[in-house]
Amino acid sequence: MDFKEELKNYQEKVNKELEKYLRDKNCLEGVLNESMEYSLMAGGKRLRPILVLSTYKLFRDDIEKCFPFSVAIEMVHNFSLIHDDLPGIDNDDFRHGKLTNHKKFNEATAILAGDGLLNNAYIVISNDLKKTDINNNHELEKKLQVFNEFSLAVDRMIAGEYVDTEYEGKDITEKELQYIHENKTGALLKLCVRMGAILGGANDKELESLTSYAEKIGLAFQIKDDILSEEGDEKVLGKPVGNDKKMGKCTYVSEYGLEGAKEILDRITKEAVNELESFGDKADFLRGLALYIENRNK
Ligand code: IPE
Ligand code: IPE
Ligand code: MG
Ligand code: MG
Repeated sequence: MDFKEELKNYQEKVNKELEKYLRDKNCLEGVLNESMEYSLMAGGKRLRPILVLSTYKLFRDDIEKCFPFSVAIEMVHNFSLIHDDLPGIDNDDFRHGKLTNHKKFNEATAILAGDGLLNNAYIVISNDLKKTDINNNHELEKKLQVFNEFSLAVDRMIAGEYVDTEYEGKDITEKELQYIHENKTGALLKLCVRMGAILGGANDKELESLTSYAEKIGLAFQIKDDILSEEGDEKVLGKPVGNDKKMGKCTYVSEYGLEGAKEILDRITKEAVNELESFGDKADFLRGLALYIENRNK
C-alpha cells in the first residue's frame, strides 16, 4: 500500500471511531453537543490519532486496542483549537474552511464546547480503564502509565498556549521560542507516539528512539505551521494566512526568516527519519509521516 492510501485508510478508521462518540442533540444542551460535533468532525487531518495507531502497529496488529486513547487525543486537540481561536487568544474566524466555533455558535458555547471535549476525553479513557481486566496487571500498568502521560502532556499544551499568548508582540530568545513550540504543539505529538509505543509493548531502547523521532516531528510540525501561516494558500489551509505576523507572534519565521525556517525544517525532518533506522521497513509509514509533515500544504 502506498503512503497516501494508508493515510486515507487510517483517517477513515479514526473518523468512523469518532462518530461513535457523537452525542444526542435532542436534549436541553443539544446545541452544546452540536457545537462539539461541529468542531470534532470539521475535517482535521487526524494526525495525532494516526500517530498513536501507526506507532502501535510497529509492534502489534490489533490497533483497535488503542482506539480509546486515539479518540481521546483528538478530542483534546479539538478542545485546544476551539479555545485557541477565541477572541481572547488568537481571535480567528475560520478553521477547516468553516467558521470557527465561537463565530458559528457564540463565545459561551465555544468555551463550554472546549471544556466538554476536554472532559469527554477523560470519560473515554476512564471507561476503557474500567473495562480492563484488573487481574491483567501488565495491561493495566501500561494503560495507567499512558493515562498519566496523557494528563501531563495536556498540562504542557496549555502551558505552551499561555506562553505563546503572553509573549505576543515581545522579543524572545531562541530558548523561549523553542519552549513555546515544545509545549504548545510538541507535547501532544510526542505523547501520541509514546502512547502507541507503550501500549504496543516497546522496550526501553525502542521507546527512546521513538520519543526522539516524536520530538523532532513535533518541532517540525510547528515550524511548518509557522511557514504556512506566512505563505500558505488560505483556501487549501482553511484558516487565515498572515495572522501570526499581524498578532506579533514569535515564530520560527519571525526569528529566522522564511528561508531559515525552511532549512531548519528540512534538517529536523531528516534527523527524525534517522531515528527510525533500527525499525527497518516496518517504520516506512512513520517515515512517510515525517515527510508529509514537512511537505503538507494544509
Ligand atoms: C493545528 O494542528 C494546530 C497546531 C497544533 C499547530 P493540525 O494542523 O494538526 O490540526 P487539524 O489537522 O486541523 O486538526
Ligand atoms: C495552536 O497553535 C496550538 C494549540 C491549539 C495548542 P497556533 O495558534 O499556532 O495554530 P493555528 O495556526 O491556529 O492552527
Ligand atoms: Mg495560537
Ligand atoms: Mg491559532
